[in-house]
Amino acid sequence: MKWRIAIAAAATMSTVIVSVGAFGHGGATGVVAQRMDLMEAMGDAMRSLTAMMRDEEPYDAERVRDLARSIGNHGGDALTDLFPEGSLDHPTEALPAIWTDWEHFSHLADQTSAYAFALETAAGNERARPGTEGMPGPGGLLTGGLSGPTVEQLSEMPPDAAFRQLAQTCSACHQDFRMEQ
Ligand code: HEC
Repeated sequence: MKWRIAIAAAATMSTVIVSVGAFGHGGATGVVAQRMDLMEAMGDAMRSLTAMMRDEEPYDAERVRDLARSIGNHGGDALTDLFPEGSLDHPTEALPAIWTDWEHFSHLADQTSAYAFALETAAGNERARPGTEGMPGPGGLLTGGLSGPTVEQLSEMPPDAAFRQLAQTCSACHQDFRMEQ
């Protein structure tokens, strides 16, 4: 019985791959397609970083630096420029709140770059002890971003700390400005 399921799954997978290749992001065009590409690139980089941070893959400081720099270059204006006011064409998952709360939205985009560049700087630092995740206690975005470690502090800490702040920034923006998945 199992092989049937495997074949059905394989058939479904190849259909998915073909359709993504042909239309990309559910038929998105223009600036919506561009920002989905940018987000996908950041998502791929975060996946590789996550695997290293969890020690599922060997930690490679040079690779962390490259991935972090790439994410840093995709934040800030590079990100916000792809959200012109009212750009909500199908099949976007962006929420109109982006333009009523632009200050918060663009702040999170800037923080993405700031934390990514902190991670780039911290990549060669000694890793956090397992279980500590390099976190200096509660703070950061969870408490409004006022009490978390600064970018300068993160650059001196285990790379795990900057990574964690970065991951929280992605989630914070998605929580407020992207439709629920
Ligand atoms: C400033 C806000 C903001 C930040 C920061 C942000 N995102 Fe996004 N992200 C969005 C929005 C809004 C969408 C939905 C875009 C759309 O569908 O038009 C999105 C969509 C995505 C998608 C889905 C793309 C697709 O193909 O539909 C991925 C993957 C993603 N983000 C990854 C990330 C990662 C990883 C980070 C952090 C490194 C990040 N994002 C940081 C706002 C943000």
